[in-house]
Amino acid sequence: MSRFTIVVLFVSSVALFSSAAHADLKDVPVGFSQIGAESAWRTAETTSIQDEAKRRGVDLKFADAQQKQENQIKAVRSFIAQNVKAIIIAPVVETGWEQVLRDAKRKKIPVILVDRGINVKDESLFTTLIASDFVAEGRMAGEWLATNTNGKATIAELQGTTGAAPAIDRKKGFAEAIAAHPDMKIIKTQSGDFTRAGGKEVMQAFLKSPEGKEITAVYAHNDDMALGAIQAIEEAGKKPGQDILVVSIDGVRGAFEAMAEGKLNCTVECNPLLGPAAFDAVEAALAGKELPKKTIVKDERFEQAQAKELLPTRKY
Ligand code: AHR
Repeated sequence: MSRFTIVVLFVSSVALFSSAAHADLKDVPVGFSQIGAESAWRTAETTSIQDEAKRRGVDLKFADAQQKQENQIKAVRSFIAQNVKAIIIAPVVETGWEQVLRDAKRKKIPVILVDRGINVKDESLFTTLIASDFVAEGRMAGEWLATNTNGKATIAELQGTTGAAPAIDRKKGFAEAIAAHPDMKIIKTQSGDFTRAGGKEVMQAFLKSPEGKEITAVYAHNDDMALGAIQAIEEAGKKPGQDILVVSIDGVRGAFEAMAEGKLNCTVECNPLLGPAAFDAVEAALAGKELPKKTIVKDERFEQAQAKELLPTRKY
């Protein structure tokens, strides 16, 4: 990645790739392969991209992959067959994209990756990636927990979808943040697939396990799993936010509500409002402009004390 330009995006600004004239996207066919609807975050991202497409008059072809990479690959193949002018992909996992992206490249169709990165040897297979720094998000969550427990916690980790960039990177960032604290240990870790039901089910199993009574904190890779875990903690007769601290990532409205109720302790925002930036990238690519290889969306961390005041201002 170091060979390429990386820029930082503050999502509130609409114009991303400034300077020269952009292509007009009115009636231009563009494919969008979305992962699914596994979380409130994902739904907000879909809405942002669909709304922006409507605003610009784009002929958007939308495909929901139900969290399966094979469905995403089929959708991309179908977009190519329909002669779209650009393809936006939110890739479910990091690997396995070479073949289909080579097909798109052969047809000279620019591919804009949103939200999650991929692992390919030949980075010319995609035009640009617009995403958060997931390692930094995990680090922010871990630092919050270290500071607020004086470096002493017995942690249950709810991982995202196996093989997905945010699951890999958020695990890494959190582990880095707690590494300096010998009394912070992850004693249970499992994937809840980024869903509320998954988070609840895994947390129920954690609490019933022989080590369940030792858990003092939950680190969830997204808010939906944290909200599921909160239900499991309550059903087990404990107080989430007090008996067991809960930290997570996304910053969705449900997380702010849970923080206002004292059940969630901290959330690190991962901004899903990527529609304007994604279509700026499509326009720029179609106008033949050079794009940064990666644009990092800047994120913030929020705590309980801020929740009530900020809740009415949350956009997703
Ligand atoms: O890729 C972003 C992650 O995917 C979000 O944190 C999560 O909620 C979503 O499902």
